Amino acid sequence: MLIRQPSGAAAALDFREKAPGAAYRDLFLDSLGNVMEGKSTIGHLAVGVPGAVDGMWKAHQRFGLLPWKALLVPAVSLANEGILLTSKEAEELNLQRDAIKRVNASPVPFVREQPWTVGDRLVQTDLGATLQRIADQGRDEFYLGETARLLVQESDRGGGILTQEDLAAYSAQWREPLTGFFHGYEVISMPPPSSGGLALLQLLEATEQVALDPDAGTAVQTIHRLTELQRRVYADRARYLGDPDFVVVPMLTLLDSLYISGRIRGVRQDTVTPSTLVQAGSFPGYESDQTTHFSIMDAEGMAVATTTTLNLEYGSKVVVNGAGFFLNNEMDDFSIKPGVPNHFGLIGYEANAIEPGKRMLSSMTPTIVVDRGKTRLIVGSPGGSKIITTVYQIILQTLLFGRDLPDAVAMPRYHHQWRPDTLFVENGRVSEDTLARLRQLGHRVVERSPIGRVDAIWIDDEGVLTGAADPRGDDSARGY
Ligand code: DON
Repeated sequence: MLIRQPSGAAAALDFREKAPGAAYRDLFLDSLGNVMEGKSTIGHLAVGVPGAVDGMWKAHQRFGLLPWKALLVPAVSLANEGILLTSKEAEELNLQRDAIKRVNASPVPFVREQPWTVGDRLVQTDLGATLQRIADQGRDEFYLGETARLLVQESDRGGGILTQEDLAAYSAQWREPLTGFFHGYEVISMPPPSSGGLALLQLLEATEQVALDPDAGTAVQTIHRLTELQRRVYADRARYLGDPDFVVVPMLTLLDSLYISGRIRGVRQDTVTPSTLVQAGSFPGYESDQTTHFSIMDAEGMAVATTTTLNLEYGSKVVVNGAGFFLNNEMDDFSIKPGVPNHFGLIGYEANAIEPGKRMLSSMTPTIVVDRGKTRLIVGSPGGSKIITTVYQIILQTLLFGRDLPDAVAMPRYHHQWRPDTLFVENGRVSEDTLARLRQLGHRVVERSPIGRVDAIWIDDEGVLTGAADPRGDDSARGY
């Protein structure tokens, strides 16, 4: 969560999950050192110690205006009275039905005999009771009380390793936000253990240096150059980024403009650098031992960008029996074996290896852009590894290419993350001619499902807010 107060003071709240105390580097490898398929993504071992409840509590303690209990009232009634499913929600639940059924011993409200359809009511009474307990007793109820007991009982039943001690030890952290500049705008974003802010600021600095032609938003040369920047930045992500409580992340160097100019020296107009020839940057002095997003602004001008996640669809698919909520599968965001890709195809090394109590690297990029002291843009997205390049493209489309926020959000997106050495573009959104020319240049172009799902707010000079919800989802933007 990234917060900018009307005074201009900014704060970052890290409520990222942590590895349980019993986790270790090779947790997901068998005795031959091979990755055990699916263990870091489905079922009880995939679960990191949850941070969201303590995160909301700490945010409320510092900035909340309404009583905690009052804030939970709508959530409790939505759980008890039920929500009406959108068509995407119905579709997703149907798609994941078998997996959810497989890992849960008792019936859960997400699974029923006949398929879900739009407008069906999903009632979650266990969740309603859990939220009511948290409303009455605060964050301690979740980490030390009845919910904690149910959670550990669920973990034990399913062969997980989460303990009461892990829950008791969890604490969200206030961190210093990362700040950089892009064409005179101040860009404030999330520090590690998310790689998002750092990678975004590297991309923006590199973009200024390659001097993109603002009239060429979708032209082959623009896509080509941005791809070359993205692959280099994600190579650094793989090598250097991890939980700053465990590893030294050389942030100053990685954001240094001279370092970045060195990184992009090899970018050529007419040639692709294969990812095999791109390594993370090197520099002296560094020891190499190495998704729902919401954007809000209130009447006073307080700006909040929050990205929060269970990781993949319905997380580990495990529902805490009796407590009614899904557990995450964030453990897959660790590098479970050096060089072996995770669900998002991201690779990593020592910096993001599993250690007890360590936070897994993230790509979440809640970001606030400030223009001459005023909040101009609040932005973020889900999308795993593609979050960073999505937020990056919204900033380019609005600030550099001058598009209105809704247009910027609707524009086709593309993504390159170093490995795989593939330029991903959204299905059917890029012309045959552009695809052919990118391929001619030497890019391995693959068309895929939509990239990112942005919910953002633009604030103009008069203080008028424009909310943009991504047409890729069934989200909406509202003012009250
Ligand atoms: O923290 C991360 O980077 C991932 N766990 C985010 C996962 C995500 O955005 C999935 N949504 N599409």
